Amino acid sequence: MKMKLRRVLAVLMCMVFVLAMAVGCSSSSEPEEKETETTEAGDAAADAADAAGVDIKDAKVGISIYQFSDNFMTLYRTELVRYMVDELGFTEANITVQDGKNDQAEQTNQINNFITSGVDVMILNLVQSSSAPQVTDMCKEANIPVVYINRQPDETESDRWTSEGINATYIGADAKQSGTFQGEEIAETENKGDINGDGTVSYIMIQGDPENIDAQYRTEYSIKALEDAGMKTEELLLQRGDWDQAKGQQITQDALTQFGDKIEVVFCNNDAMALGALQAIQAADRKIGEDIYLVGVDALTDAVQNIVDGKFTGTVFNDYFGQAQGAADLAVKFLNGEKVDAINMVDYVKVTPDNAEEILEKIK
Ligand code: GAL
Repeated sequence: MKMKLRRVLAVLMCMVFVLAMAVGCSSSSEPEEKETETTEAGDAAADAADAAGVDIKDAKVGISIYQFSDNFMTLYRTELVRYMVDELGFTEANITVQDGKNDQAEQTNQINNFITSGVDVMILNLVQSSSAPQVTDMCKEANIPVVYINRQPDETESDRWTSEGINATYIGADAKQSGTFQGEEIAETENKGDINGDGTVSYIMIQGDPENIDAQYRTEYSIKALEDAGMKTEELLLQRGDWDQAKGQQITQDALTQFGDKIEVVFCNNDAMALGALQAIQAADRKIGEDIYLVGVDALTDAVQNIVDGKFTGTVFNDYFGQAQGAADLAVKFLNGEKVDAINMVDYVKVTPDNAEEILEKIK
């Protein structure tokens, strides 16, 4: 009853607005509760006025991933589409997933095409998180809500979503936590990473794309955690590997040639690069856990299997199930016209020989 009255009012208000502005009904107004049940034909106008009420099975979704060749984001996008279709009732044909090809201009084009084709919501893994203000404005103008994933826009931007009531949100995991867990994993080894017993942990750091907050914080907080555990540290090398296995392999190979036994720990901002590092470590006849330590982040199956086999010191589970499902749930909330928080965080989980088997079961 109440809903009927609200709808009639909404239609009336909208008609007045249309007449006055002659530009149609803006939906950036009331963030009210919306119905989720299937729409009756006669209520179509009211639903349009409702600014939401899109039936899930008819909802068009535009997804763009910064780069399809990224191992972790491949697991993420697979889970995202699976969950949307199998568990939330989206129609696969209505979901468009684009490869941003690590090129922001290309991705911005894709977003423009999503706008032209009239998607109801977007889920975006930006190539450059610094382009969030521009992208958010494009989406806002087109009245399309946006869920950012994986690469967190800076705080000024996310604060603006709240203060200006923009339908944009971010879901990810706290990169500081993943870095801290990496440092703790080294601090929890029998000699706290100081294999040669000289009182200092000498390490190399293989970084992801440094524009990315995950790369920045993992680099900083892994070392901070080790130092907080009472260790002195020495950075022998810091080099970007852009999340890429082949680069991780090459950087480690060169570093082992240059620094040899001095390297006690190889910190990698993700598992793909750590798997590359492991190839170089094995080729140089070094032994994980005996004369060198190696940690990554993500919990790719190969990395976790290597922990079980004693060939990796540890990793950190970057929960793509929780993040992908959370992103889809946020998109649904937007489609229902609900308000959502600007920032949504999913926890990381430490992965060491103690729980590697258990994590492996979960991700297989
Ligand atoms: C990180 C992940 C990396 C890479 C990156 C892309 O969270 O650990 O492996 O996928 O996101 O932005």
